[in-house]
Amino acid sequence: MQNIRKIAEDLFYVGCSDRRIQLFESAYPVPDGVSYNSYLLKDDKTVLFDTVDKVCSAQFFENVEAALDGRNLDYLVVQHMEPDHAALISEVVRRYPDIKIVCTAKALAMVKQFFDFDADSCVQTVKEGDVLNTGSHELTFVMAPMVHWPEVMVTFDKTTGTLFSADAFGSFGAINGNLFDDEVDWERDYLDEARRYYTNIVGKYGMQVQMLLKKAAGLDIKMICPLHSLIVRKNIGLFVEKYDKWSSYTPEENSVLIAFTSVYGGTENTAEILAGKLADKGVKNIKMFDLSFTHSSKVLAEAFKASHIVLATTTYNAGVFESMEAFIHSLVAHNLQNRKFVLIENGSWAPTCGSQMRVELEKLKGSEFITPPLCIKSALKKDQIAELDNVVITMEKSLNS
Ligand code: FEO
Repeated sequence: MQNIRKIAEDLFYVGCSDRRIQLFESAYPVPDGVSYNSYLLKDDKTVLFDTVDKVCSAQFFENVEAALDGRNLDYLVVQHMEPDHAALISEVVRRYPDIKIVCTAKALAMVKQFFDFDADSCVQTVKEGDVLNTGSHELTFVMAPMVHWPEVMVTFDKTTGTLFSADAFGSFGAINGNLFDDEVDWERDYLDEARRYYTNIVGKYGMQVQMLLKKAAGLDIKMICPLHSLIVRKNIGLFVEKYDKWSSYTPEENSVLIAFTSVYGGTENTAEILAGKLADKGVKNIKMFDLSFTHSSKVLAEAFKASHIVLATTTYNAGVFESMEAFIHSLVAHNLQNRKFVLIENGSWAPTCGSQMRVELEKLKGSEFITPPLCIKSALKKDQIAELDNVVITMEKSLNS
């Protein structure tokens, strides 16, 4: 049965949600599912903005056919070629053979990589600032390379102030009836997953996101239609502010993230004592995660939020314990910058992981190590409490500076 939603007089939601997916991109847990958004504009010309993942094929085509209500489909605007949005392009072309696909030249090359139909005969490539008039709507194409692939563009409907934003301003999480951010408590219930989505999927490309934000600042945006999650019309300012912070690698707040691994509890105990002492000093909103049990995508998102990061782990096979090594790799891969680090190393006979962690973290611009690494051998001892207290004092000062 078709399940279309009316967004505006001539704009319809024809996407779908997937709550059975376990790992988005085979990498990220999505306990609340994910939505693949697609939009149909019915002007003098009909325009479909992107398709959906193949898992939703049947629902999607029922939706498109119902929304068209007997009309032909004139244009498919392809903003992004990742298959969670582009999987059904060839089937759209098969069903609507007169269609024109509008996309960037880079996207055309990818269409040819993914599909075998004669793309040259139906693709119209566009570049920065090109305009498509569909009757009463004027669509302007804005290039957004690396947000999140090189071929990406977004589309601004000048007539209604609607930004079709591709992956930008998307989030993990299925759509649960409510389609707009003003129908939910977005900041309370959706911001954390929006952060986890951004930091893990697009986080590496902060400079390119900054370029898109500069372009967007010149547009009178009244509504954002992303390719995942809710349509944004109430929290545009807050979301843009968060994007500016995340993409410039600026902490959202002066706060502490403690990420640790612990084989037999000695490292965890030290991290717990440190957290308690920080709390006694009045430090609020401390976040603490065992990297062997919490997915790194969640901890990475918290790292983008916090100003101070404590990493505590064990020397293992003369290296860094595996789940900490993977997390540090994730920090480096996602280009996190301008963070203040405190390192705690453990090792029962040859603790060396502190210096090894530091070598990796120094690859990140603006990394600052505000204390010498705290070295514990198997377990924190009473005569090390003064040293731990000095770490607490230094962190407190730094947090309040
Ligand atoms: Fe939602 Fe980069 O695809």
